[in-house]
Amino acid sequence: MSTLSSDKKIIIAIDGFSSSGKSTIAKALAREIGYRYVDTGAMYRAVTLYAMEHGMIASDGTVDTGRLTAALPEIKIGFEINADGTQHTMLDGTDVEDRIRRLDVSSNVSAVSAIAEVRAALVAMQQAYGAEKGIVMDGRDIGTTVFPHAEMKIFMNASAETRAQRRLQELIGKGQQVTFEEVLANVVRRDHLDQTRKESPLRRADDAIDLDNSRMTKDEQNAWLLARYRETIEKLS
Ligand code: DC
Repeated sequence: MSTLSSDKKIIIAIDGFSSSGKSTIAKALAREIGYRYVDTGAMYRAVTLYAMEHGMIASDGTVDTGRLTAALPEIKIGFEINADGTQHTMLDGTDVEDRIRRLDVSSNVSAVSAIAEVRAALVAMQQAYGAEKGIVMDGRDIGTTVFPHAEMKIFMNASAETRAQRRLQELIGKGQQVTFEEVLANVVRRDHLDQTRKESPLRRADDAIDLDNSRMTKDEQNAWLLARYRETIEKLS
């Protein structure tokens, strides 16, 4: 374990808009301080993939809420660490890490994550993950709903164009054929749906610290986050 870890274990909630780079800095911080990292977006994506594979999403994007709600207790979501140290999302025993990042899942995930029963099931799992603290969790409602008493809360943002450009590079790097316009449209649409849905809309927690990383390198962001962590631990001890 890193020398930067402290005996005092806390919960670190990192929320923000889609593709704002939450998972990159959340993962790096967790590695640095020896915490567990949980990507809650991956959990909503895995449920979405399950619904798609079981014919629960019509071609117009309508979700069969009744069937999906009934299936929720059967859906097994987990995370596995590969030999190279990367974390992979598992759905019913299958590694779906790459599959859940594709644009078709991104297009359906807002509708699935708006369903109250889906949120209740996943929030309960997330709270169980955090029961022993020592966790970095990223998502949309971590600092407001999942862990309203988290010791450290970050709210991330960057312009929609910056976020779409980043997501485009990521998808192209994975060999997917998408255009900037398609990715930007998906980012803008998800921003709107995430902020306007009835259940746990994306909202900055009043006690969150803001991070706009539009003009920051990854190293600058990591250093900034580590400094906030150290301050938080100091204040608590
Ligand atoms: O972070 P991401 O883009 O992988 O998240 C995928 C979707 O899941 C996002 O459009 C909104 C939803 N989500 C959510 O509603 N609550 C969370 N805590 C995390 C993600």
